[in-house]
Amino acid sequence: MEPFIRFEKIQKAFDEKVIYTDLTLDIQKGETITIIGGSGTGKSVMLKLLLVLMKPDAGKIFFDGKNVLEIPNDELITVRKRVGMLFQGGALFDSMTVFDNVAYPLYEHYKDYSDEKVAKIVHEKLEVIGLPDTADMMPADLSGGMKKRIALARAIATDPEVILYDEPTTGLDPTNTNRINDLILDLQKKFKVTSLVVTHDMNSAFKVSNRLALLYDKKIEFIGTKAEIDKSDNEVVRKFIDGQIGE
Ligand SMILES: Nc1ncnc2c1ncn2[C@@H]1O[C@H](COP(=O)(O)OP(=O)(O)O)[C@@H](O)[C@H]1O
Ligand SMILES: [Mg+2]
Repeated sequence: MEPFIRFEKIQKAFDEKVIYTDLTLDIQKGETITIIGGSGTGKSVMLKLLLVLMKPDAGKIFFDGKNVLEIPNDELITVRKRVGMLFQGGALFDSMTVFDNVAYPLYEHYKDYSDEKVAKIVHEKLEVIGLPDTADMMPADLSGGMKKRIALARAIATDPEVILYDEPTTGLDPTNTNRINDLILDLQKKFKVTSLVVTHDMNSAFKVSNRLALLYDKKIEFIGTKAEIDKSDNEVVRKFIDGQIGE
């Protein structure tokens, strides 16, 4: 089956600092893939490349059969509408209510929607993430875990087919970590979304993903299911899983 998303032979450097020499990764429709890897290895950059927030020096990135790097800037919105991103830190706009935060991508991408339609969608998404009564609150009134869930409501406001999660559980206590993991699983099950999760929390990685991809030495060193990882004798995989490389 042709992958829904494909990073093909990606090269990327920032000045002299080489991030990827030859990165290839295929993601099937409906799959949740977790990217694991040490700090500064280029996990967040992968997500930004898919959204074309930055461009690689070489290689192709396919999304639903199209190389997104060839899409003209003024048409990138067609990709970004279909891909929701939960940014690292999950930053909300502090000066806006929860309602306006969640409505933001709708205001941006669906200017023709009526106020009623926007309100209906915002309330529906707040329901999905389990915080239905927070619309009038300000981010400052929310706990860290609640902020993450509101940021997730914002990421799914446009009903994206793909959700990118950048360290969704970092800094959260176990209860909120479990909530976020359950939401990732729920969204996959109910809405058949395709997800790319960046994490260094191995418990979360094993819990939410169909396959895990290890970013190491400027490329995807290994990709496989938990069972495949468990029986892998790849030295880097073993060291990483046993916690000798990492953050
Ligand atoms: N816009 C940028 N300009 C210059 N260097 C960058 C930029 N974005 C990321 N980097 C560098 O690229 C490397 C990978 O970054 P990142 O993908 O954020 O790492 P991580 O795996 O921790 O998410 C880091 O060394 C980072 O400093
Ligand atoms: Mg990062």
